[in-house]
Amino acid sequence: MNKAVRELAANVAVRFEEARAMPPSVYTSDEFLKSELDHIFAQDWFCAGRADALSKAGDYTTLELANQPIIVLRDGSGDLRAMSNVCRHRMSTLLEGRGNAKSIVCPYHAWTYNLDGSLRGAPAMTQNEGFCKGDYALPDIRCEEWQGWIFVSLNPDAPAVATQLKSVEDLVGDYNMGAYTETFYETHLWDTNWKVLAENFMESYHLPVCHAGTIGGLSKLEEMICPPGEAAFNYHTILKDDTLKIALAHPSNTTLEGDRRRMTYLLAIYPSLLITLTPGYFWYLCLHPNGVGQVQIGFGGGMSPDYVNDPDAQKHFAALKTLLDDVNIEDRGCTEKVYKGLCSGHAEPGHLSHLERPNYDFAQYIYGKVRSGA
Ligand code: FES
Ligand SMILES: [Fe+2]
Repeated sequence: MNKAVRELAANVAVRFEEARAMPPSVYTSDEFLKSELDHIFAQDWFCAGRADALSKAGDYTTLELANQPIIVLRDGSGDLRAMSNVCRHRMSTLLEGRGNAKSIVCPYHAWTYNLDGSLRGAPAMTQNEGFCKGDYALPDIRCEEWQGWIFVSLNPDAPAVATQLKSVEDLVGDYNMGAYTETFYETHLWDTNWKVLAENFMESYHLPVCHAGTIGGLSKLEEMICPPGEAAFNYHTILKDDTLKIALAHPSNTTLEGDRRRMTYLLAIYPSLLITLTPGYFWYLCLHPNGVGQVQIGFGGGMSPDYVNDPDAQKHFAALKTLLDDVNIEDRGCTEKVYKGLCSGHAEPGHLSHLERPNYDFAQYIYGKVRSGA
């Protein structure tokens, strides 16, 4: 067992009422990162974004999951499909970023694949007697859609997403998250460990202070509810006042009742899909480590169907995006400062507030995964 896993074992053995933040080694050790890649990212479902962002045949997105380059695309039959993003010739990567392609053409020698991954053609290969086009296809990778989210997994034995996240549907089924529309998607790199950003999302304890310049005043610590988490996710809720109209249920929404009309859910789906779900809009982060000190971020969001159909929809989108950008600048400042602090010889984990219950559950989840391979 490596040192960081041992330190985490001691940390998570304490009950919540006396718990402390995770030890610095868990964020700064390369050995621990390797355990995370092998036992978390290579095993669990990982979010590749929203299905409605890939609506037409040939729409694709690319990602790297535990060092495996992956393409997710909408194929000719309208199905979402994930496959290896590595050419079967001399193993170059194929596509980059997001876009639309009629076929997948390798940028090295132009071996060309159909949208189902089969090899369509390869120039100047007729003289190799062993070469047979039918022998070549890009290997499939598991891909499932749930509530409008695309998930991929390198693990053939991972239980279906819908099974693992059944209780999320029980919690927020009335928000109808699957019908929300994505209006923006961006990628970012921040200089912090991926878990620092995940944990920042899991607690709203920091809102009044870190976000004093934006949303801090909208949410009160006494209106935050942080129940114990479940095996595959944790969550907490906050109530918003009417300063930000789009955080409330649209007048045409007749499904949500009472306080739920102003209730925001902060869902942390392990390992790293972090969703802020309000009755009017949603935004999310998909995180993947890029070394111990950097996190690769997919950042997207959009509106509930009631707001998409509102005559002021464009105005709502623009207001939301400006707000989220400002909030992100504040979170970036806070999480990069935490990483800097964690790397100091004086870093010592302090006790957690009752508003950091999800962080405690996240630590238990992380330990449960890495210990299996330690
Ligand atoms: S490596 Fe892809 S065509 Fe040669
Ligand atoms: Fe924040």
